[in-house]
Amino acid sequence: MQEKSLNREEITRKNDYWVELDRKYRVQVRKTRSIVLEKGKGVEVWDVEGKKYLDFESGQMAMVAGHSHPWVIKRIREQIELLMQNSIRVLNMPRVLLAKKLSEIVPDPLAKSFFLSTGSESVEAALRLAKKYTGRFEVVALLRGYHGRTAGSQSYTSISRGARAEYGPLLPGATFIPAPYCYRCAFNETLPCNLSCLSYAEDVIDRTTSGQPAAMIIEIMQGVGGTIVPPAEWVRRLRQICNEREMLLVIDESLTGMGRTGKWFGFEHYNIVPDIMTTSKALGQGVPVAAVITTDEIAGKAVDKGYDQGATHMGDSFQCAVALANIEVIERGNLLEKSYRIGALLKKGLEELQAKFEVVGDVRGMGLFLGLEIIESKVSRRPDPDRALKLVAECEDRGLLLGGGIPTGGLGTNTVRLCPPLVITEEQVNTAIDIIEDVLTKI
Ligand SMILES: Cc1ncc(COP(=O)(O)O)c(C=O)c1O
Repeated sequence: MQEKSLNREEITRKNDYWVELDRKYRVQVRKTRSIVLEKGKGVEVWDVEGKKYLDFESGQMAMVAGHSHPWVIKRIREQIELLMQNSIRVLNMPRVLLAKKLSEIVPDPLAKSFFLSTGSESVEAALRLAKKYTGRFEVVALLRGYHGRTAGSQSYTSISRGARAEYGPLLPGATFIPAPYCYRCAFNETLPCNLSCLSYAEDVIDRTTSGQPAAMIIEIMQGVGGTIVPPAEWVRRLRQICNEREMLLVIDESLTGMGRTGKWFGFEHYNIVPDIMTTSKALGQGVPVAAVITTDEIAGKAVDKGYDQGATHMGDSFQCAVALANIEVIERGNLLEKSYRIGALLKKGLEELQAKFEVVGDVRGMGLFLGLEIIESKVSRRPDPDRALKLVAECEDRGLLLGGGIPTGGLGTNTVRLCPPLVITEEQVNTAIDIIEDVLTKI
């Protein structure tokens, strides 16, 4: 027994062992770095060799409350002993309580939710809901948007060139309009601008659809597409365009939800409310749970028309108990305010790097959802994905995990993402900035 555990100890001390095993047995559908993590606490994670990293990716963007939060662990333990799951034909208390809690934190008229497991699944369900409610099927989406990799969610995704090749046919009825990527405006405008992208978008919608699609789906801030923050006027006008055509506005808050941007949901920065919203990732703090949230009116009419949704995991007591615990942690820790305040500090540090380094073209984002666009020079503004890769790799060597750095991994290819857990301290922010500055002087 002792010999066995000694062997295990020996093995777990080497990243290479696990990487090799992974290459041998896992289909390499996603390139990974050669780091094998073993544990995490707060913003920090450790690999099997004991090397410590600051996790500026928050796991896969889910760990808003930090790794291994004691309150979340306590609730997980309690719920596992009580009830993990039940048939979707009966209720459980955490599911009811989570729907009630969400209705309290979303703005009116959003009021009712149902639950699934992943972002892609919730996007599919939200659009099925929009289709049933309107009786129409066309959907408008944004270029550079990401909504997932299931057939339906991929149909409204356009993160990179070639990403759709050999997966077709995807769903008919998808129309794409330009993203509000102001740093590289396709219409050569500068802010404050004439919103030519939206005049063009209206033309595209009216010429390529029936003129009255079921819905428009957007990320309020494009994540995988390169941390693209829309101007307030763009959001206001987009809402208007939806109203004028009676299409529902669906906002995918998979990445931006649960306090990441300094408010519960990213759209709250813009004084608009979507007709349907989704949130996933950070809702479950590492446990797969996603919510579709809508108004009483849309829910009622769609259900009356026969809208139904089924899945194995549709608000398991375990999933919902974790989400409730996570919301409690965010509220008790005042993490929305913290995301806003510490996010501003991190952004200021990054802006100082932008002023200092020729290769930092743009700093974008809200709260603790920030991106650095890496370019060849401020004169050419040409994207420099190789340097972005290098930045991520070198930061990693120095103990800082950033988003990006996987050639096929989206993020606008040359945008590096910084999204630490909301429990991050000022000291950890300063450490990260020092590491990035040191690396930028060398690459
Ligand atoms: C905005 C957005 N929507 C949907 C998804 C898909 O979520 P999942 O991977 O949980 O299916 C993602 C994943 O990154 C996302 O960023």
